[in-house]
Amino acid sequence: MPKPRLVVAPGLPSAVFQSLPERFDALGGDLNMSVDEALAAVAGHRAEALLVSHRHKMTADVIARLPGHVKVLSTVTVGFDHIDVPAAKEHGLIVTNTPDVLTDCTADMAMLLMLAASRRAAEAEQLMRNGWRKSFGMGEFLGLKVTGKRLGILGMGRIGQAMAQRARGFSMQILYYNRTRLAPELELGARYFADLREMLPHCDILAIHAPATAATEKIVNAETLALLPKGAILVNTSRGQLVDEEALLAALKSGHLFAAGLDVFRSEPDFDTRFAELPNVFLTPHIGSATVETRNAMGMRALDNVFAVCSGGAAIDPL
Ligand code: 8YV
Repeated sequence: MPKPRLVVAPGLPSAVFQSLPERFDALGGDLNMSVDEALAAVAGHRAEALLVSHRHKMTADVIARLPGHVKVLSTVTVGFDHIDVPAAKEHGLIVTNTPDVLTDCTADMAMLLMLAASRRAAEAEQLMRNGWRKSFGMGEFLGLKVTGKRLGILGMGRIGQAMAQRARGFSMQILYYNRTRLAPELELGARYFADLREMLPHCDILAIHAPATAATEKIVNAETLALLPKGAILVNTSRGQLVDEEALLAALKSGHLFAAGLDVFRSEPDFDTRFAELPNVFLTPHIGSATVETRNAMGMRALDNVFAVCSGGAAIDPL
């Protein structure tokens, strides 16, 4: 059987890139291609499959330009808000993502942001880089204690549950808002709220772990932020689309929020740099899944999906 013809639009981790020739007749994977470059490569290579990342906006218009020989559209990400999945299916494509493999590292990142925001890590680190020379009094440079606090989780899927598991190690009380209530063996004593607005007044920290959908667009806005207790902390490792950034900036400036830890933004990579002017924000450039192990696993999972379908089998992670 000839090897499946594949176009890889994102630059892949080297181990994944080097594995390509074993199973695929692949083009790309060494550099990031734009959507237009990927479409040209797909046509030129007569590819059966296209691999993308979240930077590739696969709108209905783009999907309509994919030639009929493309069978699979595989994203290396777990989130799929960059793909018009109904349009892709209508176009006859099998669409796949990469659940599970990035759960732990994304939850680790949310913990990092929670601790960094609570303990003023951005300011502390900056101070050291500028050359710390003046001792602090007992009442200076104070952050907030995390242990024992109430953590509200917005979106209790795989990553939300992994965040809860970690937070239990900090003796935190777990509250969550989700469309559906989890079974008791997954809930593990966490308190369920069917209404986000009812949960917010009880959250010392709010961690966002829900996908970007029409229903979650700007779900964190001036009105919902105002329901958090004064001095709360916001953590986001999911998507910036869930947050009204003007409202968040205002809440951080007014002191209604003590701090925020943000890995994701409405616009990436050209994020709103007004966040960087605020001392009470800890910022990272969408690196929740960025570890050697997880990026390798994401790449391999995306390739496994392509290979399964191109070999006549079922996709492992169909959307
Ligand atoms: C990034 C993610 O997209 O999987 C997701 O949904 O948001 C992340 O893993 C990553 O940068 C992949 O390019």
